[in-house]
Amino acid sequence: MDRKNLVIVGGGSTYTLGIVMSLIEEKANFPLKSITFYDIDAERQEKIAKAAAIMLEEHYPELEQFNYTTDKAAAFKNIDTAFIQIRTGGLAMRELDEQIPIKHGAIGQETSGAGGMAYGLRSIKDMTELIRDIRQYSKDAWILNYTNPAAIVGLALKREFPEDNRILNICDMPIAIMKSYADLLDKDVWELVPEYFGLNHFGWFSKILDEEGNDLTQELKGKIINGDFIPTDKEIANDESWIQTFRKARQMLIDFPEFLPNTYLQYYLYPDDLAKKESPDNTRARQVINGREKRVHELCDHIVAQQTTKDIHVESDIHGVYMIRAAASLIFNLKETFIVMVENNGVIANLPNDALVEVPAMLTNNGPKAFAVGDIPTFYKGLIENQHASEKLIVEAYYEKSYTKLQQAMTLNRTIVHAPKAKAILDDLIEANKDYWPEFK
Ligand code: NAD
Ligand code: G6P
Ligand code: MN
Repeated sequence: MDRKNLVIVGGGSTYTLGIVMSLIEEKANFPLKSITFYDIDAERQEKIAKAAAIMLEEHYPELEQFNYTTDKAAAFKNIDTAFIQIRTGGLAMRELDEQIPIKHGAIGQETSGAGGMAYGLRSIKDMTELIRDIRQYSKDAWILNYTNPAAIVGLALKREFPEDNRILNICDMPIAIMKSYADLLDKDVWELVPEYFGLNHFGWFSKILDEEGNDLTQELKGKIINGDFIPTDKEIANDESWIQTFRKARQMLIDFPEFLPNTYLQYYLYPDDLAKKESPDNTRARQVINGREKRVHELCDHIVAQQTTKDIHVESDIHGVYMIRAAASLIFNLKETFIVMVENNGVIANLPNDALVEVPAMLTNNGPKAFAVGDIPTFYKGLIENQHASEKLIVEAYYEKSYTKLQQAMTLNRTIVHAPKAKAILDDLIEANKDYWPEFK
C-alpha cells in the first residue's frame, strides 16, 4: 500500500489526540506519509499538536512529516484524505444550545431537537466553505465528515455539492453501541455483522450476525434485557452521562422489543422525562468542559512537560479506529462494510429518495455501496419521516432564510411539538446565535 497524506480539520478538537493514537495503532491498515492539522484557533490547536508531535516522533517514525497550521493552502494541498471535526461557536455555544430549550421545558441536546437545529444552522456555512477550499487544492481527496449535527450538515452538503461523490458523512455511535454488544456476546466488535436502518442519531439495529452468519439477535436482546447495558469503549465507559444513556437503551428495548435502538432515540421517545431531569447549570457541554476537554488538555501538558510519552498508555479508541478503517476502505478499495450516511434513493424502499439514511454500506474506491433494506414497518417509517421532514426544513430554512420553516421544523420535532413552545425557543435561539446565523424573515 502506498502511503497517504491526511489532514485533520479541527486539529484542536478534544478527539484529535485519540485519533493520533488510533492512527499509530492502525498504521499497518492506513499507512501515512504525512499528517497535517488545520484549525482556525492557533492556540487551541497548538496545545494538542505539541503533544501529538512528541507522540508521533516516538511511535510513528515512518511518518515523513507532521505539520500544524491555520493556513488553508498549506493544509489542503496534495492531500488524499481529510477528516473534518469542527465545532462552529465552540463548546460555549453548545452550552447555550442546551440551556435555552431547557428553560422552555424541552430537552437541550447537542444534535437532537432545538439544540441540534441551532448547531446545524451554525455548522452549514463553515462546512460548505471548508469543502470548497479543500476541493480547490485537492480535488480527489476523500473527505470524511463527522462534524455535527451530521444529519443536517450532510443534507446541506448534498445540496451544495450534489455531484461530489467523495464526501462521506459518518458517525461513531453505531460502532460504540456495537462495542457494548460485542462485550455482552463475548466477541470482538469487528466480528459482528450488523443490519441497521434509520437516519443519523435516529436508527435501529434489526439484526446482529456473526461472521459465519449465525443470528445473535435474540441472544443479544436477552442479555440486554436481563443484564446491565452500559458503554464499554474506554472513552465513554466511565462517563456517568453515557452510562445513563446506555441504560435508557435497555428501557427502549423493553418498551419497543422489535429492534435494538440507537441511544439517541431516548430524546425522541422520552422527551418529557429527559427534559425534567436536565439542569441548565450542568448540561453536557459543561460536563465535557470539566471532563473530556480538561482531561485531554492535562494529558497534552503532561506530555509536553516530560517531552516524552513513555509513561502514558498510547491506545486507540473505537471512534478513531472507525474513521481510520472507513477511510482506508475507501482509499484502498477494501470493500469493507461500515454503517454510514448515504442518499436513500431506494435503499429503504418506503422512505423518500432524498433522505440521508444511515445504513450498512460497502466502502469502495467508487464510494459507498449501500445494501438494500427493503420496506420498514409503519412505526419506524412514521418516526423517520417526521424526523427527516424536520431536518429537511432546517436546511431549506437556512437557504431560504425562512423563519416559518424553522417554526415548522421545531413544531414537527418530537422533542418539542407544542407550537407556541417551538416559537419561544426559536426566538431565544435567534437572539443567542445572531453572530452565526443568517437573518431569518
Ligand atoms: P472542540 O470544540 O473541542 O473541537 C473543534 C475544533 O474545531 C476546535 O479546535 C475549533 O477551534 C475548530 N474549529 C471550529 N471552527 C472551525 C473551522 N471553521 N475550521 C477549522 N477549525 C474549526 O469539539 P469536539 O467536542 O472535539 O468535537 C468536534 C466535532 O466532532 C463536533 O462537531 C462534534 O460534534 C463532532 N463529533 C462527531 C462525532 C460523530 O460521531 N459524528 C463523534 C465525535 C465528535
Ligand atoms: C457520540 C456521537 C457524536 C457526539 C458525541 C457527543 O460519539 O456519535 O455524534 O458528538 O457522542 O459526546 P459528548 O461526550 O461530547 O456529549
Ligand atoms: Mn454521531
